[in-house]
Amino acid sequence: MSDVALQHPAADPRQRNIICVASGKGGVGKTFLSIALAQALARQGKHVLLFDGDLGLANIDVQLGLMAERDLGGVISGRLSLADAITRYETGGFDVIAGRSGSGSLATLSRSQLDGLRDGLKLLAARYDHVILDLAAGVDEPVRLLAEIAGTLLVVTTDEPTALTDAYAFMKLTAAPVRHADCRILVNLAASPEDGERTYQKLRKTAANFLKFDPKLAGVVRRDERVRDSVRHQMSHLARHPTSESAGDVEAIARGVTGAA
Ligand SMILES: Nc1ncnc2c1ncn2[C@@H]1O[C@H](COP(=O)(O)OP(=O)(O)O)[C@@H](O)[C@H]1O
Ligand SMILES: [Mg+2]
Repeated sequence: MSDVALQHPAADPRQRNIICVASGKGGVGKTFLSIALAQALARQGKHVLLFDGDLGLANIDVQLGLMAERDLGGVISGRLSLADAITRYETGGFDVIAGRSGSGSLATLSRSQLDGLRDGLKLLAARYDHVILDLAAGVDEPVRLLAEIAGTLLVVTTDEPTALTDAYAFMKLTAAPVRHADCRILVNLAASPEDGERTYQKLRKTAANFLKFDPKLAGVVRRDERVRDSVRHQMSHLARHPTSESAGDVEAIARGVTGAA
């Protein structure tokens, strides 16, 4: 523990029950996985909040076909508190704080706005069993600051070299949260569970060699056409295709997360 942490024990930014879904690269399935994990945890009887941390690109509400009357746009402009921006997604049995298309990206927030958002999220987290944060792609400071509040970090990759490189960059540039949180690799869009395991081993070896850090495997989610069908129909995957292999893969990951929480 550093001297600073000893002097200010309350300064630890982490909140144990916040799960950040991060990646580096866009399009690897963060939003799909965040929604599916939220529903899988809700099915275990957990009280869950899903937060769209990719503000400006209104992801979650579009994937869920949710017409959120209140969203982060109101919070950022100071009209709403974070708690006022909560919408219930009945089909999935969880709460959502939606982003808002065109409300400006994370990058446009001032440091004090970001700190306010982090504090607000940590306060709200006390009311839930789990808060899932769907992070934006990239490794910019706002993304790193949000990742810092996570007790569990799920770093999503696929077997594509660009996704692996960007997942590695995310772990390198967010070294502190990655080391202090429970950081796990989630391999999405895998051809098979074995293939996914091989992808994980590649990333794990690179992290061990260059970062002296040994991330665990959260799990592997297989490539499944029914995921695209769920996204097209703007429904959560566990509601539309509850018996699919990919839904089962996500449920196994959710069991692993609660086992550790
Ligand atoms: N396991 C999967 N099998 C098939 N398609 C997937 C899978 N995961 C994600 N996709 C597809 O990838 C697209 C991008 O996913 P998304 O969650 O929006 O990525 P991100 O949030 O990382 O940018 C989805 O719309 C979906 O069609
Ligand atoms: Mg997304």
